Amino acid sequence: MTEKPWGGVFREATDQRVELFTESISFDRRLYRQDIAGSIAHARMLAAVGLLTRDEAAQIVKALEEIREEIDAGNFEFRVGWEDIHMHIERVLIERLGDVGRKLHTARSRNDQVATDFRLWVRDAIDTILPLVRKLQAAFVNRCEADFDCVLPGYTHLRRAQPVLAPHYWLAYCEKFERDYQRLLDCRKRVNICPLGSAALAGTSLPIDRHMTARELQFDEPSPNSIDATSDRDFAVEFVFDLALLAVHLSHWAEEWIVWSSEEFGFLKLPEGFCTGSSIMPQKINPDVLELIRGKTARVLGHLQQLFVLLKGLPLAYHRDLQEDKPGVFDAYDTVVGCLEVAIPLVELTELNRSRIEESLERGHLDATTLMEYLISRGIPQRTAHSLVGRIVREAMDRQCRLADLPLEVFRMADPSLDANVYSVLGVKNAVQAFRSYGSTCPEEVRKQVERWRERLARDLGA
Ligand code: ARG
Repeated sequence: MTEKPWGGVFREATDQRVELFTESISFDRRLYRQDIAGSIAHARMLAAVGLLTRDEAAQIVKALEEIREEIDAGNFEFRVGWEDIHMHIERVLIERLGDVGRKLHTARSRNDQVATDFRLWVRDAIDTILPLVRKLQAAFVNRCEADFDCVLPGYTHLRRAQPVLAPHYWLAYCEKFERDYQRLLDCRKRVNICPLGSAALAGTSLPIDRHMTARELQFDEPSPNSIDATSDRDFAVEFVFDLALLAVHLSHWAEEWIVWSSEEFGFLKLPEGFCTGSSIMPQKINPDVLELIRGKTARVLGHLQQLFVLLKGLPLAYHRDLQEDKPGVFDAYDTVVGCLEVAIPLVELTELNRSRIEESLERGHLDATTLMEYLISRGIPQRTAHSLVGRIVREAMDRQCRLADLPLEVFRMADPSLDANVYSVLGVKNAVQAFRSYGSTCPEEVRKQVERWRERLARDLGA
């Protein structure tokens, strides 16, 4: 029988099956640094308000620091019967300090303790992931110069639509990842609230200083309502939502580059160090890293769903259900960090297959829209211009040629006043140049985007 800190009222020992079923140490050991940081702040606060002597607090802080070093070094025994990380650390503290150790849990409960630990952990996780997002954006931005003159077919419905500059594509991803970045930063504000001192749910009758604890842990402020603070896991849902959308954005990109690096498209050459082979087909060089990025997105989305379902219908305040909040959050974080860590070098090292892109570029009449807009600028109503160009495109299809290869009389059938100047918007290179609206794909606009990104990243990366 393992002695429990909560065992006073019990006359029977905990069934071993229950110990196995209820333990969380197998995963919440991951919170040990946060748990110890929270306890140190709590001990200092207890001393400041006179609930511990200075000497007692100093002993506690010192012992906790030693425990942290032991866990860091792998010299700490974890036991299922000791339930969770909070009880492990407290138990060892009591073993070492006796009655002084028994005072640490004054004016707190595991309910506010775990909420505090988890918020500290999510805050650290956000602080780790933000620079990785920036690095991924930098990888795209750093390609822009070398890829600047490369025109790619832009797609809608995965059908050729309009020509775009390669850096315009790269920066489209930067914008998506920027929203992820800003969302995480914004989430951090709501994470950074200190529940410690809310105790079990109602607070405490002891004269604690919650503002001090919050300050010690670099939280922005103490939580204003103890019942909410011990039951709230919104911050975890928000965090996983932000990760899920980030993962979805990664999956867009991964899917696109899987397609673009296929034999059929041939636009990209993936670095071989980031591909794997087949055990039966000797010729295969597969994009497994990109496939796994796409595939792992599913796990992150699953964790978001699990958290929502976990929380749905729970009355106030703490319930043991909440213990189930951590594994999915940890895994969502690990998964997204893992994806980012391989996405960054993939973006850096993948090469454009310019000759393949060039030779296919004139297929699909990517210049049809600029031709239509040319007619519009000469006073033809859009709907009319659209259908005239539709007929011209049909003519080109029948002749199996580009719009630019059609003789002038074909264009004159649409608009008799047209002259050879019409060819200035035809051909993919001309078509790209013809764009001019803010945020569009013409070189001047894309150049502005690149500059904006360079400045933003330089500011943030301190480069
Ligand atoms: N291991 C628990 C969790 O993660 C800690 C809080 C336990 N509180 C309680 N009243 N049983 O939620």
